[in-house]
Formats: sequence, structure tokens, C-alpha cells
Amino acid sequence: MNNLEIKHNELTADEFIYLWESVWDGAPAVEQVKLAMENSVFRVSVFDGEKIVAMARMIGDMGLCYYIKDVVVHPDYQKQGIGRELINELLDFIKSNGISGTQIFVELCAMPDKIPFYEKFGFSANEAQRLRIMLPVE
Ligand SMILES: CC(C)(COP(=O)(O)OP(=O)(O)OC[C@H]1O[C@@H](n2cnc3c(N)ncnc32)[C@H](O)[C@@H]1OP(=O)(O)O)[C@@H](O)C(=O)NCCC(=O)NCCS
Repeated sequence: MNNLEIKHNELTADEFIYLWESVWDGAPAVEQVKLAMENSVFRVSVFDGEKIVAMARMIGDMGLCYYIKDVVVHPDYQKQGIGRELINELLDFIKSNGISGTQIFVELCAMPDKIPFYEKFGFSANEAQRLRIMLPVE
């Protein structure tokens, strides 16, 4: 993490799409991403100088639950501890907000090969299955 800068709630739609396309196909439309950025409860981005190299964000209600989304470290910057830093930033936000003394439910969805990464932070799978639908917007 030497010389890298962490920013809160500054991740833009263009930066999001750039990082998405560095690891996945089928990036969503920029207008969709803009709306999603505006309505995320917390966004983290990591910069090497002017260049964005990692992002993560959460949706949530701050009282009861959060959902971690779009954790991406650019392939050129993986395996250097940046992913760990991203998750710690998200967990620190959760711990410093909400109602003191309570516990908050934090969820995410991970492909099997990424589960060991999240287990390092204490996440564990249960028997629940992920149900989903892609719903057309009218
Ligand atoms: C998953 C991802 C975010 C990890 O980021 P990273 O910067 O490479 O991870 P770090 O270097 O911070 O690794 C932190 C620890 O997790 C471990 N780790 C990282 N990826 C792992 C994996 N796939 N399986 C097992 N352990 C892993 C590292 O070895 C390290 O362990 P250590 O602290 O004991 O040495 C990154 O690989 C990525 O962006 N992948 C593509 C997008 C993606 O799949 N995101 C996850 C969506 S659910």
C-alpha cells in the first residue's frame, strides 16, 4: 500500500466501469452506474497517483444490514494487500457507524475461488442459496 491513496465516496461511474472491465465482461450502462454510485452507502477507491487501481462499495441501511458489492483490484495490482485494505475500510465504516453495542449483518456473494479471501475477515457461508432475477425496468 506504499504510495497509494485511499478515497471515500468519490468513486465515479467511469472509474467503476474501467475497473469492472479489467476483471469482468458485460459492464452495466453508465447511467445505471451513476445512479448506483449516488445511492451506495459507502464507496472506497484506491489510487496510484492519478490512476485508479481498486474499488469496493456497500449498500445498506446502517442499522441492521449491509451488502458488500463490486470488490475489484486491477489485475496489475493484485496480491499486494490492496484487497485486504478495501475490505478493512468497509468493515471500519460499519463498526464506526450504526447503533453502539449492537451487531450488524454483513453479506456478500462470492465465487467459490474467492471464498478463502473473505474467510480471512471472518465471513462464512451458510446453507442459504442466492435467488435472483434480472428484471426489466419499464
Ligand atoms: C479478490 C481480490 C479482490 C483480492 O484482492 P488482492 O488485492 O489480490 O488481495 P490481497 O493481496 O489483499 O490478499 C489478502 C489476503 O487474501 C489472500 N487471497 C487473495 N485472493 C485470494 C483467493 N482468491 N483465494 C485465497 N486467498 C486469497 C492473499 O493471499 C492474502 O492472504 P494473506 O494476508 O494471508 O497473505 C482480487 O483478486 C480481485 O479483484 N479479483 C477480481 C475481482 C473479483 O473476483 N472480486 C471479488 C468479487 S466477490
